[in-house]
Amino acid sequence: MPRSSKAPRAAWNSQFGFLMSAAGSAVGLGNIWKFPYIAGMNGGGFFVLFYLVCIFLVALPVMIAEIFIGQTSKSNAVHAFCQIEGRKSWWRLGGILGVLATVLIMSFYSAVGGWIFFFLHQSISNFAAFSSLDGVEKLFSQITDRFELGLAYQAVFILTSFSIVAGGVSSGIERLNKMLIPALVMIILLLLGYASQLPGFAKAWQFMFDFDLTHFSTTGMLEAVGHSFFTVSAGVGIMITYGSYLQSDAKIAPIAGVIVVVDTLIALASGMIIFSIVFSQNAAISSGPTLIFKTLPLLFSQIQMGQAVAILFFMLVTFTALTSSVSLVEVPVAYLVDKGISRNTSLGILLVVVSLLGTLCSLSFGSVSLFVWFGHTFFDWCDLLSSRVLLPVSGLLFVCFFGYKMDSHRPFEQIYRSIWVRRLMKFATCIVAPVAIIAIGMMGII
Ligand code: PHE
Repeated sequence: MPRSSKAPRAAWNSQFGFLMSAAGSAVGLGNIWKFPYIAGMNGGGFFVLFYLVCIFLVALPVMIAEIFIGQTSKSNAVHAFCQIEGRKSWWRLGGILGVLATVLIMSFYSAVGGWIFFFLHQSISNFAAFSSLDGVEKLFSQITDRFELGLAYQAVFILTSFSIVAGGVSSGIERLNKMLIPALVMIILLLLGYASQLPGFAKAWQFMFDFDLTHFSTTGMLEAVGHSFFTVSAGVGIMITYGSYLQSDAKIAPIAGVIVVVDTLIALASGMIIFSIVFSQNAAISSGPTLIFKTLPLLFSQIQMGQAVAILFFMLVTFTALTSSVSLVEVPVAYLVDKGISRNTSLGILLVVVSLLGTLCSLSFGSVSLFVWFGHTFFDWCDLLSSRVLLPVSGLLFVCFFGYKMDSHRPFEQIYRSIWVRRLMKFATCIVAPVAIIAIGMMGII
């Protein structure tokens, strides 16, 4: 059983604060650099429809399970299971893997976070460098090849995230998200308004929403399941941790519903913005770092009001990265704090670990990639291990614990009022989600 700390447990100031913070965790790089691309490449409208089904039948049940486990136990991702079972529970393995995953994800996320800060800085002070492909490629290799530069920006990203978490749950994390999420929505609306005036808007709409069955495949379906899971930050214990700071009488289902709707709308809007710009300039479609750090910067230099659009865009990416990274840091910190270690000491321990692993991730780039095992760099290993192994295993444990083990808490009766919704969500939680998670887990291993 966990040792409880003497200080009263942290809590959100309001349900709105929880909503903003959980949405901040969910809205991340995945919404901007992955979803639009996989939607377009896998047949547009059909993929989007299938993705929505996955969101409601796989991602939402896992998210609700996590929030409920946190809200009921008022404990961190590991001890929550022991608290609920009243003894040392082996289900806590899910939490342990989740904590490990957050540390690994934070390590490579911080490397990318550093690049984002660098490009935001460049879009303000050195926009001329975006005007040729050569210039843009030089900028990207500058930040990845020159270790001291990459590490300096990464350090700024890490320190920013850690100092926000050091502020505490309500005055640090909640306050940040209450500011950044509305700002992020404003930026999205501004950019969407701009994109709607571009000649490529109609083609972007076609790419994202036209029903094209020829491009819809089984791989695309599995990709939709996997991404639905990743995009709501399920499977690492973030929602258990955030849920543990939620008032006991807060209604989980409507809040979780709003979070997934906001997350999906932001992903769809990002796709429309990015592809309107790409198609207006007849550029090739891409995803991931190539899209954000090469394709788009070059295109910004070719469109009207390009510098303003570039600055707004990199601010948007910065906000999404920061609101997700604070949630990653809070999971291990909450675990250590519940063990009786002070918040600052916990942050200090984690800072050392993340800085070390994060440096190894940064050193994975450049002309000489260090630490290559079986053809993958350290950066790749952190990504592969967390998203393909840890996330599905702990997600499966979380959802099964909630669906099969928590019957004495009558979770479905407590969460869903309508009998039909309750039946549907019970089926989704106990059957659909576990089967889907096993399928993506297998896909990851194969
Ligand atoms: N949900 C984030 C995104 O869409 C990614 C993430 C996953 C963040 C897991 C934290 C934990 O990009």
